[in-house]
Amino acid sequence: MEDTFGRNIRYLRLSVTELCDLRCRYCMAEEGVCKRGHEELCSFEELRDFTAAAAALGVTKLRVTGGEPLVRRGIVELCAMLRAVPGIEELCLTTNGTRLEQLAAPLKAAGVDRLNISLDTLRPERYREITRTGKLENVLRGIEAAERAGFENIKLNCVLLGGMNDDEIGDFVRLTAKKPWQVRFIELMPMGVCAAWPPERFLPAQEVLSRVPELRPAGRSGVAQLYLLPGAAGTVGLIEPMSCAFCADCTRIRITADGKLKPCLHSDAELALRGLSSAELEAAIRRGILMKLARHRMDETGVTETHRGMFAIGG
Ligand code: 5AD
Ligand code: SF4
Repeated sequence: MEDTFGRNIRYLRLSVTELCDLRCRYCMAEEGVCKRGHEELCSFEELRDFTAAAAALGVTKLRVTGGEPLVRRGIVELCAMLRAVPGIEELCLTTNGTRLEQLAAPLKAAGVDRLNISLDTLRPERYREITRTGKLENVLRGIEAAERAGFENIKLNCVLLGGMNDDEIGDFVRLTAKKPWQVRFIELMPMGVCAAWPPERFLPAQEVLSRVPELRPAGRSGVAQLYLLPGAAGTVGLIEPMSCAFCADCTRIRITADGKLKPCLHSDAELALRGLSSAELEAAIRRGILMKLARHRMDETGVTETHRGMFAIGG
C-alpha cells in the first residue's frame, strides 16, 4: 500500500533476534545484549502472522535480520515458513556469515533467495579487533559455502570506519574484478554505541570514488548507487544513509524481534504488534505505514532519533 507521500511499501525487514555471536565495536558493547526471556521473543507463528499481514497490505519482499539471524534456533525452518507466506515473492537474509558454512545449503533449500553478508575487513587480525570475538576464516568459508549452495548476486556489506578499515577500500573494490559480488560500502550511522565516536570515524561513501578513481557509474540498485571497475565481474555499491538520499524512495517497514513495528529506522515511533488478531495486525501495520515520515533529520542533527542500537532494530 502507499504511504502519505505516495511511496509504495513493498519491503519488510523482520528481525528474529537481538543476539549476535560477534561484538562489532560500532554496534555492540563488549558484554553484548542482555538476553531476554523466551516470552519476550516473538515465536515463529507470530513472525509468520506479522509477515502475512504485511503481505496482505502489499509487501512482496521480506528480509530476515537480527542481531544475527543465524543464531536463532530453528532459523532454517523459520525461513521455510516465511517463504511460504502467500504474497512473499522474495526472501533475503542479512548475516555476519559466521555460521554460513553449515547453514548456506539448508537455507537455500528452505527457499532463501538472496544473502547479504557483513564483512568490514579482509585482514584476520583486524577482523578480530573489530568484531572482538570473530574469526575471518569462518566468514570466508561461509561465503564459499553460499556460492556452492547456488546463491547468486551475493552482497557483501562493508561499513566504512574512518581510521579502522578505509585503507582496505581498494582491496574490497578489487574483489569485484573476479567475483560476481556486489561489494557495498555503507556509511556508519551514529546509532547506539558509535553515536559517541569522534567525527573522523564517519566517512562519506563518496570517499570510495576518490580512493578508486577508475570506478565508473553503473546505475542504481535499491538504496545503492552502483559503480563498476572496467571489465569487472561484480559491482561496487555506495550506500549513503547520512545524506538522506533515499528517504524519498523508501519502500520499507521494519519489525523488531520484540514485535514492534518501526515505520522509520531513525525515528522512535513504534507500534506494538503482539497479541493482535490478524485483522488487528493488518490495521496496525496500515497505521504504521501511514505514520512514515518524509525523511530523517540526521544530516541536520547529526544523530538518529531512535534509542535502539542497530542490533535491536535489524540493520
Ligand atoms: N551504521 C551502519 N551500519 C551498521 N550496521 C550495524 N550498525 C551500523 C551502523 N551504526 C550494519 C552491519 C551489517 C548491517 C546489518 O548493518 O555491519 O552490515
Ligand atoms: Fe553482530 Fe552485526 Fe552488530 Fe556486528 S554489526 S555485532 S555482526 S549485529
